[in-house]
Amino acid sequence: MSAALFDAADDVTRVVGVTSRSAEESAPSSAGRPAAVAAGSIRFQKVEKTYLSSAGPVRALTDITIDVPAGSVFGIIGRSGAGKSSLLRTVNRLERPTGGQVLVDGEDISAFNEDQLVALRRRVGMIFQHFNLLSAKTVFGNVALPLVVAGVPAQEVRTRVAEVLKLVGLEGKENTYPSRLSGGQKQRVGIARALVSRPEILLCDEATSALDPETTLSILSLLKDINRRLGLTIVLITHEMSVIREICDHVLVLEAGRIAETGRVWEVFGNPRHEATRALLKPLDRGLPDDLTERLTSLWNGEPATALVEFTYTGAGGLQPDLARLLAVLGDGTRIIQSNLDRIQSHVSGRLIVASPARADLQHLIANPELAHAARIIGYDAADV
Ligand SMILES: Nc1ncnc2c1ncn2[C@@H]1O[C@H](COP(=O)(O)OP(=O)(O)O)[C@@H](O)[C@H]1O
Ligand SMILES: [Mg+2]
Repeated sequence: MSAALFDAADDVTRVVGVTSRSAEESAPSSAGRPAAVAAGSIRFQKVEKTYLSSAGPVRALTDITIDVPAGSVFGIIGRSGAGKSSLLRTVNRLERPTGGQVLVDGEDISAFNEDQLVALRRRVGMIFQHFNLLSAKTVFGNVALPLVVAGVPAQEVRTRVAEVLKLVGLEGKENTYPSRLSGGQKQRVGIARALVSRPEILLCDEATSALDPETTLSILSLLKDINRRLGLTIVLITHEMSVIREICDHVLVLEAGRIAETGRVWEVFGNPRHEATRALLKPLDRGLPDDLTERLTSLWNGEPATALVEFTYTGAGGLQPDLARLLAVLGDGTRIIQSNLDRIQSHVSGRLIVASPARADLQHLIANPELAHAARIIGYDAADV
């Protein structure tokens, strides 16, 4: 417990530039940022990370190659221990890859010396699950810290702190101590502290996990607003799939340190290909109620019965559940039983379950690419559903 607390405090001192671990050897300055690369882009190139622990080497990341476009909101998901934090922390070099490269704005940051690292950490802000505020400092003191450490003149510090406190909706709280703030307000202070150095990239590691659902929503809309207004690239880790759905453009699924799949959120969520992704998305999927499932038989005996048909939509090609078309194929007596449809980035995905009179050619009728991306008969119910 105390080790974890120490680590958290240490992260803050490192990201605000109070001190950086002296174990990092210095390296010659790189040639500078290539002009063609947009500010805020990240490229992971064959990134590997192996920790050396007392129990032996722990392989946390293997062969990670992916681009984070400048100005995007990029989500990282995966089971606990999948390597999410390890990957995120290579972007400001809180962790150093043991292989491969991380390019920020086209520059390989592994070659950075101490001074370059301090400058990098001003360009890459970070917020944490437990906010990591200094309890002995006021809101103003916490937010001002990175600027004070950087030697910014007092007048400019006041102006910039006022600016970011306004942005995060904490005007008038300058002199309040963290202990008097709610969780949501504490995270707003964390966000203000991360933004005060005017970064190009904001890293968020489980930043809403300690918050209630309503506060989570308000922090999410703040992050989205910041992304839009400041053009900042946001990379966020979360175990809440709804967070990804709400604000991310792209998502990366990690599994045991490797890329399981990645793509636009609607693509990955609409048609999850990897078992890890399906497991993570399970909570969003309600499924049929048990009483109904128990009544269903898998075979039809030819007697009058109701068939339950599931239509699946992946969001591809703009195909949507068109009720007129469904009715034209399935005919009278067709009813909607359950809908688990979602609209992400203007693409409709999910499942629609309908009841329709059982008949011999039903399987043939529903296998129609104009109706849905996939269709299957879930089962038959002799009674009326
Ligand atoms: N400092 C460390 N020393 C040794 N092993 C570590 C360290 N940090 C993380 N790990 C291990 O690396 C793997 C990935 O961890 P992490 O990146 O924290 O995963 P996640 O954030 O997805 O839960 C895990 O097996 C974890 O135990
Ligand atoms: Mg983690």
